[in-house]
Amino acid sequence: MQKNLEWEKGNMFSKRSVETDVLIKKLLKCAVSGTGIHEEFKCMLKQIAAFVRASVGSLLLLMDDGSLQFVAVYGGKEGIIGERLPPGSGIAGVVAESLRPIISNNPSEDERWAKEFAVSIGYIPENILAVPVMTGNKIVGVLEVLNKHGGFNKEDLKLISSVIPILSSVVEKVRLYYVNQKEIERLRALIDISLKLGGMLDLQTLLEGIMETAKEALDAEASSIFMIDKERNDLYFVAATGEKKESLKEIRVPWGKGIVGWVAEHGRTLYVPDVSKDERFYSKVDEKTKFITKSIIAVPLWKKSEIIGVAEVLNKKGGGTFTVEDITVFEAIAKHASIAIENASLYKELEDLFRNAIMLVVNAIEAKDPYTKGHTARVTKYSMLIARTFKMSAEQRRALELAALLHDVGKIGIPDSVLLKPGKLTEEEYALIKEHPSRGAKIMEPLKIPEVIEGILHHHEKYDGSGYPDGIKNGDIPFNARIIAVADAFDAMTTDRPYRKGLPLEEAIRRLKKDSGTHFDPEIVQAFLDVLEVRREEIIKTISS
Ligand SMILES: [Fe+2]
Ligand SMILES: [Fe+2]
Repeated sequence: MQKNLEWEKGNMFSKRSVETDVLIKKLLKCAVSGTGIHEEFKCMLKQIAAFVRASVGSLLLLMDDGSLQFVAVYGGKEGIIGERLPPGSGIAGVVAESLRPIISNNPSEDERWAKEFAVSIGYIPENILAVPVMTGNKIVGVLEVLNKHGGFNKEDLKLISSVIPILSSVVEKVRLYYVNQKEIERLRALIDISLKLGGMLDLQTLLEGIMETAKEALDAEASSIFMIDKERNDLYFVAATGEKKESLKEIRVPWGKGIVGWVAEHGRTLYVPDVSKDERFYSKVDEKTKFITKSIIAVPLWKKSEIIGVAEVLNKKGGGTFTVEDITVFEAIAKHASIAIENASLYKELEDLFRNAIMLVVNAIEAKDPYTKGHTARVTKYSMLIARTFKMSAEQRRALELAALLHDVGKIGIPDSVLLKPGKLTEEEYALIKEHPSRGAKIMEPLKIPEVIEGILHHHEKYDGSGYPDGIKNGDIPFNARIIAVADAFDAMTTDRPYRKGLPLEEAIRRLKKDSGTHFDPEIVQAFLDVLEVRREEIIKTISS
């Protein structure tokens, strides 16, 4: 039996020497280098091994089933990364179970040593020093240094022990990474599909295009599409062309009224060459738009066997009349519009399905912190309400929505001990928290949608340049990020935190105003204040959701 140096209480947090401090700084530098989890750990192992003059270092992570998985190796066989030692197996296994460090200066004669495993990977170490990596009183992994000329001694154990606390917080980060990796992959797949669907979603633009074609093809003055609103029992405009198209948007036609009402009810094409002679004509629309309707072709739009709307084309240019060919052509175009509407509603269903799935995964990620539960959903909701007040295309809105949904996704790499810490954070811990935008952006990089990635990356920038990570200001901060910043701050203010209750709405509004122009884009603050005024009740409900 090899000499086993007993774990000396107090060693664990032995007084830090100057060298130890230098090492800790180096380790932190590795941890925040942003080179990816494996490289970061390799860098840390390199520093630790050099510290005790060992040539190899490895880190094993305790998995849910009690096995130990190699997650990083320096100086040795990197092929073992991902391999697992069964529970209790090998020197590392004994360390994990006994929570005591082991020095084994002749492992091939040490019965605790996992000989078979070593043989299987073709690696026989000269000597091993293994220590448990703990967070609080919970073991999270085992750190091993191997192959020191002349063997390890008590002093080496002391040195290694002094850096375990810092290592343990980073180990937890890796553990979370492993735990969440599957979720991230699922998230990426979902977003990818939902984006592909999204490209086909802008129905309004599509219908306006179709109606524009109809107007040109029939040489008409205007054209439009009404949809049936079953709940309100009337018809409303979804797309219109011609000079008065803007004024049409607010207008609704009561059920059964007018030429369109008749077509919606009877499901038949109707051509009226002179509306002044037809009593079905509903003159209120003309009164409101100041358009003078002379002739109309109106065609029903079908979804399977159900009438969903009516397309109409108005006034042959130059005062002429529509021909039979015009009617046939318009019926064909209307069919095209029907198909577009049907497809869009199918896509919409699918899109909703995917959005819900994305939300589920995001919720699972944020569920570990009771104080941020629901944060993502609320920030997304506020962001989208703000977006409505700006002229944005459907595509731009979707990018904003994704960015808002994912804005804090980078937090999954931050240990709970930091994320959930109730007291004041140390400088190092705060630096770790501040990494979440860049980590999140990196996680979502493979999606290759700049508007989403920028939104995530810059949501903690401030309008005056005092934010992070890049300290950019004003219009240099991407628009999506400026919107999310306001929504994010509002949610942080109005919900309970570990150290304080949520602020009353009026106080949150006062603070938004105060920080408008310094922290936040004043235009976006104003937009949100407008939203707050109109939808006060809805927002109060959201705050407590
Ligand atoms: Fe954030
Ligand atoms: Fe946030």
